[in-house]
Amino acid sequence: MDVILFGPPGAGKGTQAKILVEKLGIPQVSTGDMMRAERASGSALGKKFDEYMSNGALVPDELVLELFAQRLAQPDAAEGAIFDGFPRTVPQAEALDATLAKLGRKVDHVVALSVDIEDIVGRITGRRVCLSGHTFHVRYSPPPPSGVCPECGSEIVQRKDDTEETVRTRNSAYESQTFPILAHYEPLGVIDKIDGTGTVEEITGRILAALGKS
Ligand code: AP5
Repeated sequence: MDVILFGPPGAGKGTQAKILVEKLGIPQVSTGDMMRAERASGSALGKKFDEYMSNGALVPDELVLELFAQRLAQPDAAEGAIFDGFPRTVPQAEALDATLAKLGRKVDHVVALSVDIEDIVGRITGRRVCLSGHTFHVRYSPPPPSGVCPECGSEIVQRKDDTEETVRTRNSAYESQTFPILAHYEPLGVIDKIDGTGTVEEITGRILAALGKS
């Protein structure tokens, strides 16, 4: 099964993707996580990603598509994947469709999470992450006072792009460049519109019901 987790920054895509990996047995493919790993490596490509990510702008399609193609070719994605933060533009959606078609696959579901902008700002500015990508929230799922991730032992920090100003820029990029993807998938009848507010468990339940997996 190939599932796109779609929604604005802070909609809960990463949180839900990690749960769905366990429930569905297919990997999470997060272009944001891949870019942060590349950035942390200090490579020239990572520095290029950083120019865009720090300002809340989208990374150009040609750089993203190379990264995505390499990831989808990994053996663990042979039976499907949960796409988190990808595709972000209509050309990226077209590239995803074409790559899946070559593998005899297609996008089965676009899970579109909706969350109000003021809730998004609260979620993003309160988010804390560890260096391996485990996610916390100062109010909803507080990190331990030690500042060390209980799952992997790495340091818990605030993402560089998790300021109020940057999240508003990221949300504008979502509205102008990413939201039109829904019109691209609308004729295929694969979009499941999900209310992204409520507890994490409630939202997981709504998603699994939409995927026919509850
Ligand atoms: P990316 O890493 O993809 O970030 P994003 O899409 O902005 O999404 P976020 O990771 O901010 O939020 P999320 O929806 O995963 O929410 P989360 O579950 O963490 O992209 C970052 C940047 O990389 C982009 O701006 C761009 O520059 C670049 N990029 C990446 N992919 C690209 C692409 N394909 N093309 C071009 N550029 C690309 O939850 C947020 C917080 O809320 C957490 O603290 C969480 O604990 C909390 N939370 C979650 N669910 C709930 C709930 N139900 N109730 C209360 N709190 C909740």
